[in-house]
Amino acid sequence: MLNQQNPTETAAWKALERHFEQMKEVHMRQLFAANPLRFEQFSLQFEELFVDYSKNRLDGQTMELLMQLARQCQLPQAIEQLFDGHRINQTEGRAVLHTALRNHSGRPVLVDGKDVMPGVKAVMAQVKVFCQSLHSGEWKGYTGKAITDVVNIGIGGSDLGLVMCTEALKPYWHPTVRPHYVSNVDATHIAEALRGLSPETTLFIIASKSFTTQETMTNAFTARKWFLKSAGDERHIEQHFVAVSTNAQGVADFGISDENRFEFWDWVGGRFSLSSAIGLVIASAVGFERFEELQEGLHSMDEHFRTAELERNLSVILAMIGIWYVNFFGAETEAILPYDQYLHRFSDHFQQVNMESNGKGIDRSGRAIDYASGPVIWGKPGTNGQHAFYQLIHQGTRLVPCDFIAPVINHNPIGDHHNILMSNFFAQPEALMKGRSKEEVVASLRASGHSEEEIAFLTPFKVFEGNRPTNSILIRQLTPYTLGQLIALYEHKIFVQGVIWNIFSFDQWGVQLGKKLAKKILPELEGDALVDQHDSSTNGLINWYKQMRVTLKNS
Ligand code: F6P
Repeated sequence: MLNQQNPTETAAWKALERHFEQMKEVHMRQLFAANPLRFEQFSLQFEELFVDYSKNRLDGQTMELLMQLARQCQLPQAIEQLFDGHRINQTEGRAVLHTALRNHSGRPVLVDGKDVMPGVKAVMAQVKVFCQSLHSGEWKGYTGKAITDVVNIGIGGSDLGLVMCTEALKPYWHPTVRPHYVSNVDATHIAEALRGLSPETTLFIIASKSFTTQETMTNAFTARKWFLKSAGDERHIEQHFVAVSTNAQGVADFGISDENRFEFWDWVGGRFSLSSAIGLVIASAVGFERFEELQEGLHSMDEHFRTAELERNLSVILAMIGIWYVNFFGAETEAILPYDQYLHRFSDHFQQVNMESNGKGIDRSGRAIDYASGPVIWGKPGTNGQHAFYQLIHQGTRLVPCDFIAPVINHNPIGDHHNILMSNFFAQPEALMKGRSKEEVVASLRASGHSEEEIAFLTPFKVFEGNRPTNSILIRQLTPYTLGQLIALYEHKIFVQGVIWNIFSFDQWGVQLGKKLAKKILPELEGDALVDQHDSSTNGLINWYKQMRVTLKNS
């Protein structure tokens, strides 16, 4: 079991508090000036992935103390427990083995003494056969036509990572099959997704670990109805509906044969499941070989995380730098800013993985924590973000540590687009680090002929204090393999932070209450009777909605 060390009670935390007092006013410009080898010291390459973390408010001592903190919180032991199938998801009594899904090492992975790898391989063989028959056109719809569109119905971990990956891997899409997604219970989502699709050539993947999620099941039944409206006979369902779920009975009750069910296991967390059969839509979009390359990339980063010493371990480094800002500088948020349009859903996926994992306030012994845990994660691709929210990152009152991610090679080498994109990728972290001093602003205003009065007025608005931290991550090109590496890099960063914060990262009790209340309210929305069982605000809102509905019906 994971230890229950309160991080704030470690010697390293206390040393970091003292160290913070020395570092909090230090400008990164000074740190760069004082250390000509700063870039070499604080950057690291793993295969063709390069991370520069030198533009952070830290020095050698900071990193040393952060690594001491990691050791005092028994991170190395926790990493071992993760990979060795210990039931570290204690509140649900489960092991956490997404790494087994992409374990291409040939090593067995034991849960309760039983090797899970044969099961993993058997399901992947089933995924392979499915993809082959889909792409060869052998898998026919009910009128004998080949499938052209695959619609994934799922939500949260059964949607976000899949959308992110298929969008990221668009250059690798198989020419005959197009992926679509339905997640929101708002009927608009399914209505728009199905617009233009033909029931004869559409296949639905119902992706739900539990096969009970209200949104997914509602959408699945709507899809079934849409399909049967054309196909008529329920026997045709087997050619158009497959499921990925741990719930065999739920799948059978829906009318999907066991042959069309892709198994996964309770030791795969929803938000960590994209490399399981939940990734069926990814494999359908890019082909099984590409899906395997994605898994290879994930596995390579898993191995790096498992074996590299903490000081040279990319996920550990990024995680501990994150802790430095969250717990010592009081940063409340982190931005992920990919300079690759294909990664436009990357931060959405990691928003869920991070916030559902580490948005916790109770420690592993059940006590409320008195230090900050998971930050608010968000982001959008550059350069669009630059014209939307970078103003706040540059000159706002909040500290927003940012990760910049970019490829060396662009999939669309048109004109000088990529160099322009990359010039922005390099310029933003530089500007955030250096800022622009008062002297520089005054000199530039003078040079452009402003009066002394104008200079005095304008200067404060044009000064950038800088000292705003960033990590810069470069990859060769966005491929299935490098995408896999990036995903695992962030997954393990989140794990490390959960270990340090002494919280359980693999449950999500916080999403249950809202779900329960919605189930209670649903029947109350039928009919016109007013409700009075809630607080005055909730009663008032429901009743306003119901009365308005009546008014609109009668008008
Ligand atoms: O949002 C809560 C959650 O339980 C996520 O953790 C999960 O990814 C999602 O719902 C979907 O769950 P399922 O795959 O069981 O439908």
